[in-house]
Order: sequence, then C-alpha cells, then structure tokens
Amino acid sequence: MAIKYLSYLKSIYRRFMTIVLIGYMGSGKSTIGHYLSKIIGFEYVDLDGYIQDNEGKSISEIFKTKGEIYFRNIETMYLKEVLNLDNTVISLGGGTPCYGNNMEAIVNNKNVQSIYLKASIPNLVERLDKEKNDRPLISHLDSKDDLTEFVGKHLFERSFFYNQANKVVLIDDKTVHTIVEEIVLDLF
Ligand code: S3P
Repeated sequence: MAIKYLSYLKSIYRRFMTIVLIGYMGSGKSTIGHYLSKIIGFEYVDLDGYIQDNEGKSISEIFKTKGEIYFRNIETMYLKEVLNLDNTVISLGGGTPCYGNNMEAIVNNKNVQSIYLKASIPNLVERLDKEKNDRPLISHLDSKDDLTEFVGKHLFERSFFYNQANKVVLIDDKTVHTIVEEIVLDLF
C-alpha cells in the first residue's frame, strides 16, 4: 500500500529519472529490477538482454566467439545508450561498473540514481553454484571451494566500483518485496 502511494507521488513530483541496479553476478539485479519497474510504473531494461538482442547472440556466445575485450567495449557502448532512457529501471551486468569509464558515466549523470545490491560471499556462492553454466566467467569452476575463492577475490576488486553507487542495499535474508520497498521508500 505504502509503495503504491509513494509511486503515485513519484509520478507527480519526479518526471525524469533512471534507476540503475548494480551488483555482483547472482545478486538478483534482474528479478529486483523487473519487480521494481512494475511497482513504480517505469520501463525495464536488462543490459545483458539489450546486448543480446542487439548483437543477436547470447552473452556466452559473444564471450566465446569475440572474447571478453570485445564484450566490454560493446557493453560500454550499449550502457551509454540505455543511460539516456528516462523513467526506466536498468539492471547492469555484474562487471559493467568496473570497466572503461562506466561508473563515472553513471555517477556523473544527474538523472541517474544508482543502487548497489550488496550480498555476502556465502549467499552469492549459494546462488551462483546453481546457475554457473550461463556465466562465462565462472562456468569453468568445478568445486564450490573454487567458486568461493573466485567470488571472494573478485568481489573484493569490484567493491571499489560498486560502493560508488548512490545507495547500498543489503540483500541477504530479505525478500524481493522488502528490498523493493526499501528502494522505493528511499527514492521517492
Ligand atoms: C558479468 C556478469 C554477467 C554478464 C557477463 C559478465 C561479470 O551479468 O554481463 O557474463 O563480469 O560479472 P550478470 O551479473 O547479470 O550475471
């Protein structure tokens, strides 16, 4: 109820805004982004999905046939395109904020509210262990121990970029509804 009322206020007071969801692989950016967009009546764009549609290939295929450097270049190009959309919730890929000048472009854009969905390493490992195969960066890791070590180091390197977001939301042990409510109450 509170969410509906606040989203109504939002539509009156704040006409132009883009909400960008940032976070490590498996942090629920797509699920939360989709739900958030429905609640506040914004469009929803998943950057990986946008790249796949425009390139006519899955992310795994792009990594395999063209390599990661190519992927990072087009990721930056498509990010710039979607950042121009108004009243849209955008879920980024886990690596998007960490390459090129992407995080700078996000933070310096006055229209953009960036939100870091922060999860603990054990939580991420639990989630990713079940869906490794579609993710080219971790699909080669055979054991849970290897995955834990990889996520720990990788998250440490990436946190520098993630923590530049306007808001950090801790997501461990929270439902999607609670997380979305927290975001809406903060933004509107
Ligand atoms: C990546 C995360 C993926 C996708 C690509 C690279 C990363 O997105 O963009 O596989 O570098 O963390 P998700 O975070 O949606 O899995």
